[in-house]
Amino acid sequence: MKIAPSILSADFGNLEKSINLVRNAEWLHIDVMDGHFVPNITIGPIVIKGLRGYTKQVLDTHLMIEDPSKYLNEFIKAGSDRITFHIETTLNPIGVINQIRSAGASVGISIKPSTEVREIADLIPLIDQVLIMSVEPGFGGQEFMPYSLEKIKAISALRDKLNKDLLIVVDGGINQETAAMCKEAGADVLVAGSFVFNSDDPYARIESLR
Ligand code: DX5
Ligand code: ZN
Repeated sequence: MKIAPSILSADFGNLEKSINLVRNAEWLHIDVMDGHFVPNITIGPIVIKGLRGYTKQVLDTHLMIEDPSKYLNEFIKAGSDRITFHIETTLNPIGVINQIRSAGASVGISIKPSTEVREIADLIPLIDQVLIMSVEPGFGGQEFMPYSLEKIKAISALRDKLNKDLLIVVDGGINQETAAMCKEAGADVLVAGSFVFNSDDPYARIESLR
């Protein structure tokens, strides 16, 4: 199981220290919010650029922004390795996918809790990861929505047919208990914010999830 700690719950006054606490994670998950698509504002490419100088971990960037095509090149230039955009934010997902690829990053698509898997089924062969939101996007520390498990299973069935290399990422409300349920349903990567960082020992929390 790959673990992607979400820096949304890290100490933004001392990001270097926070990142050092999760050095055993393969990926770092970075939540970008614009105050439009979600009711919260977080960080931009300048922070990704700063992080890039401190770690070789995969920078997995989750864009919760309207009109992703307008900004995604900036994020890739700053050092994002993987870019995930929300299907709800564009009428031209294939255009966004192509733009991310030509800029040299891996491509992910995310769906909100109210968006069904069938809405992205045709795109599965074209992408590297699907990110299933298991809480309403916008904030850390919410409770896992059990219906997400059905979606993980549905994506997993599509993966068998359409794209064997697809990674299934689950984001929101991950703890030891929900992690086990996600694994069972077919998840490959777990994003965890509060469970990892709201603890005295983030390193151990990551080991326990894995
Ligand atoms: C929420 C973000 C998540 C968030 C998860 O919109 O996409 O990545 O940080 O936080 P926890 O693990 O606390 O639910
Ligand atoms: Zn996220």
